[in-house]
Amino acid sequence: MAKIAIVVGTVYGAAQFVAEQAAEVLEGLSHQVNVYDDPEVSKITAPDVDFILVISSTTGAGDLPPNITEFYVNLKDQFPLLTGKQFAVIALGDSSYGETYCGGGAQLDALFEELQATRLKGMLKIDACEYMQPEDAALPWIKSWAENL
Ligand SMILES: Cc1cc2nc3c(=O)[nH]c(=O)nc-3n(C[C@H](O)[C@H](O)[C@H](O)COP(=O)(O)O)c2cc1C
Repeated sequence: MAKIAIVVGTVYGAAQFVAEQAAEVLEGLSHQVNVYDDPEVSKITAPDVDFILVISSTTGAGDLPPNITEFYVNLKDQFPLLTGKQFAVIALGDSSYGETYCGGGAQLDALFEELQATRLKGMLKIDACEYMQPEDAALPWIKSWAENL
């Protein structure tokens, strides 16, 4: 059993919905899960958090959703080393945006690496051009590793 913090960045709610579905899957595997859509640094640095799952869309031109911007800035400023914690990022985006495709998720992925958390899996990009329902891509991906946490 792992203690999992799911951090959500969303504008229109798709990433939030994926997070809620992910929490159900993970709880079904007996993990303890908290979902944060107004995330705070202290929630992920808590010593009993084993795994951080970031689920974020992208807005503007490669930008983070407003609900997660303060968290990102605080995390960068405080720079708490996350050695010993694992993380993974699910990035919701739209490939028609070209170079900024999944840019929000990529910023978060890079920051968690800088903070020395251990990447469990490479970032999953979910393209709105391909998936009407991003959970169709996210849930099988989560199930592929969640039992072994
Ligand atoms: C105004 C606007 C700007 C966007 N900019 C980007 C972008 O730069 N890169 C990208 O990959 N997707 C971009 N998207 C697509 C969203 O990230 C995608 O639709 C996502 O599934 C929305 O998830 P959400 O409902 O959780 O916010 C943009 C969408 C909108 C409406």
